Formats: sequence, C-alpha cells, structure tokens
Amino acid sequence: MIKLNTNYIEKYNQNIDNAKISNIKEKLSSSYPMTDWINIDKTISEEELNNILKIKETILNDNPDIFIVIGIGGSFLGAKAIIDCLSPYFKKNKPEIIFAGTTLSSKYLSELLEYIKGKNIYVNVISKSGNTLEPKIAFDLIEDYLKKNYSDYQKRIIVTTDKEIGSLKEKANIEGYATLDVPKNIGGRFSCLSAVGLLPVAISGIDIKMLLNGARNGIEYLDEAFTYASIRYNIEKDNRVVELITTYEENQESFGKWVSQLFGESQGKDKKGILPIPNIFTSNLHSLGQYLQEGRKIAFETVIKVNKSEDIKTINYGSSLHNLNNMVVEKVCIAHEEGDTSSLIIEIDEMSEYTLGELIYFFYLTAAIGGYLLEINPFDQPGVERYKELVNRELKNL
Ligand code: PA5
Repeated sequence: MIKLNTNYIEKYNQNIDNAKISNIKEKLSSSYPMTDWINIDKTISEEELNNILKIKETILNDNPDIFIVIGIGGSFLGAKAIIDCLSPYFKKNKPEIIFAGTTLSSKYLSELLEYIKGKNIYVNVISKSGNTLEPKIAFDLIEDYLKKNYSDYQKRIIVTTDKEIGSLKEKANIEGYATLDVPKNIGGRFSCLSAVGLLPVAISGIDIKMLLNGARNGIEYLDEAFTYASIRYNIEKDNRVVELITTYEENQESFGKWVSQLFGESQGKDKKGILPIPNIFTSNLHSLGQYLQEGRKIAFETVIKVNKSEDIKTINYGSSLHNLNNMVVEKVCIAHEEGDTSSLIIEIDEMSEYTLGELIYFFYLTAAIGGYLLEINPFDQPGVERYKELVNRELKNL
C-alpha cells in the first residue's frame, strides 16, 4: 500500500490538464519504444523466472562463500537497493554478495582479488551493451583469476546481457557460460525486475515472486504517480531544482541512490529536470538540515516513510523507537515547511518484498510520466556518452 501525504507540499499540488494526462496515459499503455517494463510479464516471462530460480538452486547447492555481481548504473543499482532494503544489518546470510565494476578503483579491485582467494565464488556479470568499461575491467580481472584457479570456472560465471549482440554475449558463447537475457525494450534503469536484478536478489534469499507480485500491483498507484510527477513538474518551475530522496533508515540509502539514477538519468535533459540526491535522516539533519532550514531555497524533499518496522522500546521516552522515528519525520516536515522547504511523504506500511515491488513500479511510473511532462525522452541517456567517447579515444592510444 502506497499513500502520498502532500500536506507539506500542498501549494505545488496543482492538477495537470486532462488532455496532457490522457496523452501520457496513451503513451504508457501502447507499445512505445523502451516501455516493456510497464508489463511485468514482458519484463520477465514465467520461463525466464523458472530458469533464474533453477540457476539460484544450483549455485546455492554448492554452498558458495561469495557471489560477485559485476555491473554499473542500471545494471546493479536496483539489485543493490532491493538487497539492502530487505537484508538485516548485521546477521549476514551466506553467500556474501559483493558488487564490483561500479567504479575504476584499483584499490577496491586489488583488495577484492585478495579477499576472494581460496573461497568458493560465483560471478554474475551484467551489462546490456556488453561494452561498458568499468564492468569490463572488473570482469576481465575476476574471470582471469577464476580461469587460473578453478578448473570448473565456466560453471561459476553467469552472464546477463543482450540476447544477441555485444562482446559479452560473444564471450559467453565461446566459453559456454550460462546466460540470462536483458530485455531489448527495457533500458538499464528500468530493468531491476528483469533478469538484471532478479538473479542477485534471489541469491541473497529474497522472495522474487513476491517482489514481482508487488510490482504487478504497482499500476494501482498510477494516480498517485501522476500526483507526484505533477508536484515535481510544478516545483521545478518555481526553481526548486534539488530533490532530496530522503529515508530515515540507513539500509534504504541505496534505494535513494537507485531513485536518484532513475530520475536523474531519465529527466536531466535539454537543460531541464530536478537534481535528485539520496539523503539519510536523522543523520543528515545534523549536517544538511541547517541548509534546508535556512539556506537558499533551491530544494524540496521526498520522504519515504515506513509505518511499521521491527521495533524496540526506548529506555527513557514514552514511545517505541520506530514510532519516535516516525514522529520525527512529521516534525522535521513541519520545521522545514516553516523554513520554506516543502516535503512530500511517500508512506508504505512496511518494508517487504511486496511493498518494495510496488514502490519500484511506482517510481518507474513517476520517472516516465515526469519525462513526458517535461517533453523529453525519459528512456535515453545521450549525456552519458560524451565522457565515454573521450575515454574510448584515449584508450586507443594506450
Ligand atoms: O540506465 C542505463 O541505461 C544506464 O545506467 C546503464 O545501465 C549503464 O550505463 C550500464 O550499461 P550496460 O548495462 O550496457 O553496461
């Protein structure tokens, strides 16, 4: 269940005209390019889902120590967000899930290669294009390590990439690695409910069928997505160009990062769009809080509030800790509203596979609707290409 509380952002909650809404609904319901994520059955078929569950069983039966997920941007952020949100802080399950290929840190990769020595490891390399530099470098190194140290290295590598093209697909064919397909008509940041996210998530012990059931129900929140997208559209016109994607739970920070990528990469085009920043309260109340209360008026907050959670009693206060945390959510919204920084609260009952599936779908809808309102294409990312061109040119000279 997703509920929008717009009390603290009321002045921006003005309706978009009906003709525009029908036009966007039309775009969402027909087969527009890159919109297969709307239909969960197109995102992941029954057959693919069963295949993922079979691969998961085979891997877990071998009792691995570490499962390395290699990918960048839309190829890992969603899986990491889901795993972090639904995993305990301290009682870590086996296998340990480690992400790689998300930067070009030589320190990280050399320490990782040291850390995995002698351990039972499996690798899922994920890249739709198969050509992205960061995961390519990480995979080359880890594959090389596997080849040198395991006679059965082939069975330890699962490649998630385009069904037909790309160097990763070619390599998988030559080496005989198991492959999973990235859906053609879904871009990276809209793909975490496909094979891209589902294998790592399943390996971590999360019920992926329940996650998908939640996502299937996400369409119920189309009106709420329109409301959220129109608020973002109206507030940007008022020069509120920074959105803090705020949660009050540390392990939801990567969800904030996922939302930031989804909104930022989908809408930051033609000199338009809001800059989304992941934010954790109450920690950042003791840093960014000052700016939000009294600094320049460029920001607003989108707060994800979880109504119920595992709870403990406080010692000296007449409230359980989670209720106290949620009381603080409300008071911070009031304080910031007094300081002319508005907040929108997205409430969910609890953090579970089902509600997270709903929430992911709701943010997909909002990103697409917001892009259409801005009259830009929410499904491309031409601006990411420029740095790649410069780097690739230089790589040829190395
Ligand atoms: O959302 C996107 O499309 C991007 O963030 C991509 O996921 C990212 O650039 C990685 O691309 P690829 O999966 O081709 O390696």
